[in-house]
Amino acid sequence: MESSSWIRAMFEEGERLKKVYGADAIFDFTLGNPIAEPPQELKQGLCDMVLSGEQGMHRYMSNSGYEEVRAQIAGFHRENSRLPFTQDHIIMTVGSAGGINVALKAILDPGDEVLVLSPFFVEFMFYIENHGGVMRLVETTEDFRIDTAAVEAAITEKTRAIIVNSPNNPTGAVYHEDETRALADLLARKKREGRRVFLISDEAYRKIIYDGVVLPDAFNLYDDTISVFSHSKDLGLAGERIGYIAVSPRLEEAKPLIDAMIFANRILGFINAPALMQRLVGRFQKNSVDVTGYQEKRDAIYNILVESGFEVQKPEGTFYIFPKSPIEDDVEFIRVMQQHHILAVPGVGFGRKGYFRIAYCTEMDVIERSRGAFQEVGKLYK
Ligand SMILES: Cc1ncc(COP(=O)(O)O)c(C=O)c1O
Repeated sequence: MESSSWIRAMFEEGERLKKVYGADAIFDFTLGNPIAEPPQELKQGLCDMVLSGEQGMHRYMSNSGYEEVRAQIAGFHRENSRLPFTQDHIIMTVGSAGGINVALKAILDPGDEVLVLSPFFVEFMFYIENHGGVMRLVETTEDFRIDTAAVEAAITEKTRAIIVNSPNNPTGAVYHEDETRALADLLARKKREGRRVFLISDEAYRKIIYDGVVLPDAFNLYDDTISVFSHSKDLGLAGERIGYIAVSPRLEEAKPLIDAMIFANRILGFINAPALMQRLVGRFQKNSVDVTGYQEKRDAIYNILVESGFEVQKPEGTFYIFPKSPIEDDVEFIRVMQQHHILAVPGVGFGRKGYFRIAYCTEMDVIERSRGAFQEVGKLYK
């Protein structure tokens, strides 16, 4: 519970401060709760569907999800990666959180190791532990790129998988083609040497990407790829819990693995992904919330941080930014920011001390009004 508490603790402190000073006086950047609304056609589609009078719409279906929806999603991936995806490669899940748990349940034996690139989304640790696995962190470089040599050094005879999250929470980094290819080449070499390591590609933020940056297609880079997708962020449906797993058509002996994942979906208690949401998202694979809004917010917060003297990488995706704390003790620095009414989460909560995370999925007005407070904090360390 202690390692899980950073975001929640910061959120609760924020609630306390809001009561004392009023919500408008507090700049809350703690939670990654997407602010963008689902596309209007999606909301209309939901109304039409619910009122259509079709019988059986709310019943159980196959544990992998509706066939026609999986076929639509397979079509999307066929087009994207030019690989022969069919509905059998797709499993509908309860968000990507559900999807990652399903994948880990299917592949892990007790004591198996799962590599995670750090800084990282801390829930990965709990997901791995849920299924008897052991997390091994692999640091990325100072500018949050994949360090292939560090990955290689971390692979042991117990390594079963590596989770790669790009675009990344908390750094906003998007891993580029060259570094992803280098990682894929390493995994392929390890496989030839007798150690098969699955690549679990968490692409929950795949459409929240800026400046024309391209997310490399993991399926074309490494055969044993299991990708996990979510509509929490790209369609603004976080509370509706809908996502899916896509297994590479090139994955060797895929059938027993896919069957295990469908079984895991059932016995982890999900049974199936929510029926209404499944039906809805199939035809919205190419849609997205308005990403330009997030990009404007990225630019605004980045400029404010730079102006105020912070050292920070410009994120290429997500709605997070991960600046360096001006003092080593990031928890102490978060307290200083709180005195100036800015709420953020210390880097230690994501495996990297000396940094802090700002979730800028807020109203633009909050970002603009926070400028003075950031400048005051910045001045303390000049
Ligand atoms: C990196 C990452 N993966 C997975 C998730 C889980 O998202 P969901 O289950 O809503 O798809 C999140 C949520 O914030 C996340 O940041």
